[in-house]
Amino acid sequence: MSTGSGASISVRGVGKTYQAGAGPVRALLPTDLEVAPGEFVVLLGPSGCGKTTLLRMLAGLITPTEGVIEIGGKPLFSGRSAEPSRDALGSLGFVFQAPNLMPWRKVWRNIALPLEGKGVSKAERRARVEELAASVGLSDFLDHYPKALSGGMQQRVAIARALIHHPSILLMDEPFGALDAMTRDSMNLLLQKVWMDMGKTVVLVTHSISEAVFLADRVVLLSQRPGRIQDVVDVDFARPRDLTVADDPHFGELVGRLRKQLGGHR
Ligand SMILES: Nc1ncnc2c1ncn2[C@@H]1O[C@H](COP(=O)(O)OP(=O)(O)OP(=O)(O)O)[C@@H](O)[C@H]1O
Ligand SMILES: [Mg+2]
Repeated sequence: MSTGSGASISVRGVGKTYQAGAGPVRALLPTDLEVAPGEFVVLLGPSGCGKTTLLRMLAGLITPTEGVIEIGGKPLFSGRSAEPSRDALGSLGFVFQAPNLMPWRKVWRNIALPLEGKGVSKAERRARVEELAASVGLSDFLDHYPKALSGGMQQRVAIARALIHHPSILLMDEPFGALDAMTRDSMNLLLQKVWMDMGKTVVLVTHSISEAVFLADRVVLLSQRPGRIQDVVDVDFARPRDLTVADDPHFGELVGRLRKQLGGHR
C-alpha cells in the first residue's frame, strides 16, 4: 500500500433499494467496507450486482437507503439531508467509463473545468493543468480539441480533470472498459504510477479479473444482485508492478480463485 495522503472511506451497513416503476429493486444488501488512507481497492462482480450503485453512493451522487458512509471520518450525508457535505465532495474525484469531455473546449479547459468559479485565475488554472498534464502524459495535447485524441488519451483527460482539485479519493467506474487491451495495459501502468506518486485512496470498479488483481491492494468481490460482499482478496505483489507480474503463479492463483467464484457470470 502506498503511504499517501488519501482519506479513509468507511461504509457501514450501506444498502440501496431503488424505487422503480415495476416496484422496488434491491440493488445492494447492507454492506460494510473500510478503505484505509492511500489504499487501492477494486470492486469486482457480475453485471447488475450493484458496483456502480455503491460507487455512486460513495461519490454522493445517490443516497443510501440505509447505513452510513464516512469520508475521512466525517459523514458524507449529514442528518436526513440527501445532499452530501461540501467538504466530502471536495475530497472526491470521479472517473466514468466514458470520458464525458466537452467537445467545444480544448483539452486544457476540460481539465480545468472543476476549478472554474472557484476564484482561481486563468493563468493559475493553466499552470495547474500544465503541471498535472506532465504526470499523465498530456503535455503535448493541451491545446487540442478532444476529438483529435484517441480513446486512451481522452480517458487521460478525464483522469486529469478528476485530479485537478487535488482530491484525496479517486472513484473510478470501469474507466478503461472501452479501451483495447494494449491501451488498457498502458493505462493500468499509468494509473498505478499516478496513485503511487500522489498517494490517493482509489476505489475502482472493473469487469476484468486480471485488471483487478494487477491494480489492487484488495479485491472486493460482490455477489450477483442483490449484491453483497462474497470475498475479499488481498493482493500483496510489490510495487511498482509491471505487466510481467501476470506471469507469476500466485497471480494465476488469485485470478483462478476469483474466476471460480464468478462462475458462469463471465
Ligand atoms: N435508477 C435505477 N432505478 C432502478 N433500478 C436501478 C437503477 N440503477 C440501477 N438499478 C438496478 O440496480 C442493480 C444494480 O445496478 P448497478 O448499475 O449498480 O450494477 P453494476 O454492478 O454496476 O452493473 P454493470 O457491471 O452492468 O455496470 C441492477 O439490477 C440495475 O438494473
Ligand atoms: Mg456498473
